[in-house]
Amino acid sequence: MKNRLPTAVCAVLVAATALVACSKPKLDPAIEAVMHERHEGFERIGDNFKLVNDKIKAGGGLDPDTAAAARVISVESTKIARWFPQGSGPETGAKTGAKAEIWQNQDDFGQKRENLVTESARWVQLADAGDSAAFVAQTKTVGGTCKGCHDTYRKKD
Ligand code: HEC
Repeated sequence: MKNRLPTAVCAVLVAATALVACSKPKLDPAIEAVMHERHEGFERIGDNFKLVNDKIKAGGGLDPDTAAAARVISVESTKIARWFPQGSGPETGAKTGAKAEIWQNQDDFGQKRENLVTESARWVQLADAGDSAAFVAQTKTVGGTCKGCHDTYRKKD
């Protein structure tokens, strides 16, 4: 066949592909899984937080959608404690926004994590109480806990 690549070219292509495969860091499957869960979890937190903020910006407040979003964030926040095991930071060579400082300042990172757990639980309480004004005000406080952690422990894109 005319449009077939010569064998030599194919051999080079195979070798190049193998090189690319080898230069990828080998990740422990358990670490890889937790980093994936972490990414998905923060995306869920981010999407739900955006939903509430967009509604508030549009003049809305507490409604079934924003209450549900607050609840998702509150539940997800309790999982953060298991999203950062030793060895799941930048040293993996994998794409991550997590800074090495997380593992050097475990107490402080834990405190910042608890701030979100506490403030999002309070947010859900206000939703359950049907207090729209307080719910809207608490959204700012919750947002402050995101920023409080990101400023120190998340790489800027
Ligand atoms: C205790 C620290 C901490 C708190 C609190 C926190 N985050 Fe994050 N967040 C991180 C870290 C660290 C990363 C980077 C994770 C990674 O890339 O592995 C991140 C990543 C993200 C991402 C990017 C997800 C991705 O992988 O692309 C979004 C979106 C996000 N956070 C939203 C939020 C929102 C919204 C809040 C508050 C409601 C919040 N975060 C609270 C530490 C935190």
